[in-house]
Amino acid sequence: MKRISLIAAAAVAVLATAGAHARSFEAIQKDGTIRLATEGYYTPFAYFEGKKLTGFEVELAELMAQKMGLKTEWKTISFDALLTGLKQDRWDLVISSHGITPEREKAVTFTAPHYCSGAQVIALTDAIKSAKDLTGKTVSAQTGTTYLDYVQKNVPGVQRVVNFPTNEAALNALMTKRVDAWVTERFLAKEMLQKNSKIKFNQGELLFVERVASAVSKDNQALAAAWNKAFAESLKDGSYAKISQKWFQEDIRCP
Ligand code: ARG
Repeated sequence: MKRISLIAAAAVAVLATAGAHARSFEAIQKDGTIRLATEGYYTPFAYFEGKKLTGFEVELAELMAQKMGLKTEWKTISFDALLTGLKQDRWDLVISSHGITPEREKAVTFTAPHYCSGAQVIALTDAIKSAKDLTGKTVSAQTGTTYLDYVQKNVPGVQRVVNFPTNEAALNALMTKRVDAWVTERFLAKEMLQKNSKIKFNQGELLFVERVASAVSKDNQALAAAWNKAFAESLKDGSYAKISQKWFQEDIRCP
């Protein structure tokens, strides 16, 4: 009896995942609320101020939702679980500073990029500021990011690359000198220096630049199109520029 119910439960679980489809844009509109997901530990893009989720990407997504006539519901979860959650229909859209890559594009549909940035070499000394300075050095980066991937594949001289579940942990590894360098996003690094007088590091060269976008499920073109329309509007009517200035004191849209 027990065995049979276990098998039945397993079968139901399999069916449930196989049957999970992304909600269509129509279904989202009918419901009135779009389910958004982000990591929530990526200052100043999406992070918690006390209990409140805030940041550039949070405000931008709220603006897009408003323009699409939708309310929002946020979920926060570890960075490397975000894109797979789309497939399982756990949320409708992910906005968490994902760079558009051919590999990710096989799994999800990206919207128009909402900012352009780059991966930067961060170290405690200005002797380490470029890819070639990483020869024989140890480097930290966040798990699942393009930063980790790049250093692993394109900087052959590196002695060791250590990955951390959060960006903050990767920074800590540098601050406590467990690694020689940290690779992260340049606006984020700039913000950390500005906001925290106790933190001092050197911002080196950009290893690569990337276009950052939000992602929806492969079969959700209509949602991507609606988002893109709202986004184009925000570029035109000045609302994008306002949010960008507020968070970065500059306009970080892609050229
Ligand atoms: N831009 C990098 C990437 O696409 C890092 C993104 C990290 N985002 C985050 N929420 N931790 O992989």
